[in-house]
Amino acid sequence: MDYREKIDPKKLPRHIAIIMDGNGRWAKQQGFLRVKGHEKGTKSVRDVTEAAAELGIENLTLYAFSTENWNRPKLEVKTLMKLLVSSLRKEITTLQKNDIKLNAIGDLNSLPQNVKHELEEVIEKTKQNKRLVVSLALSYGSRQELTNAAKEIGLKVKKGELTPESIDESVINQHLYTRNFPDVDLLIRTSGEQRISNFLLWQIAYAELYFTNTLWPDYRKEDLFEAIYNYQNRERRFGKTSEQLS
Ligand code: IPE
Ligand code: IPE
Ligand code: MG
Repeated sequence: MDYREKIDPKKLPRHIAIIMDGNGRWAKQQGFLRVKGHEKGTKSVRDVTEAAAELGIENLTLYAFSTENWNRPKLEVKTLMKLLVSSLRKEITTLQKNDIKLNAIGDLNSLPQNVKHELEEVIEKTKQNKRLVVSLALSYGSRQELTNAAKEIGLKVKKGELTPESIDESVINQHLYTRNFPDVDLLIRTSGEQRISNFLLWQIAYAELYFTNTLWPDYRKEDLFEAIYNYQNRERRFGKTSEQLS
């Protein structure tokens, strides 16, 4: 089926988030080392980013490295960081050509200096771009994000800049890495795992969840179109009844 054709351009999700999982298993299946899977996965990132830009999606957030991923073998972590730098360098022209703005969320200070530097450079160079915002979640953990938000809000209360009574959802929102972004409409996870793994817990409160068995290195534009088509055929009720919606 050609899903691209069937997508309703008026009902696009404004914010898609993807847990890009399955690189290691993909490599193992092919008889390669795990890192080969990460390498292959960069092609999927490019494909999905282009597809999102083509469709007119406003925000795409990609889970690239979690706070928990620091616990992987040293060599794997090192290779992932290296790959990140080389991909950023390689993709800058494509980002510019497609009018895509790069953003990053997570504890960026914990990244190696060269990764942070490369990232900041691409973010700076693409900051005027308007078509699509791609946010890379790097050294990202949702609980840590929420804990930081609580800490910052607490400090503001202490300094008298905020009263406890004025703390509402929008105040919390404004203290997250994702401030200024709409809530996630569609969350996709590849590789067959059906869990959230500490990703955007607050932001996915009412997201539609979509799980696919496809391993990330095999994920292509058509897979994203299929997920969006599936999303468009769901009824988002936000607590209301079906009758209220029609
Ligand atoms: C996702 O693939 C990439 C990262 C978490 C960095 P994995 O490396 O988790 O692949 P599997 O889950 O072991 O197959
Ligand atoms: C989640 O994948 C993190 C990323 C995709 C970057 P993991 O492979 O680390 O998740 P778990 O540990 O299997 O849940
Ligand atoms: Mg995994």
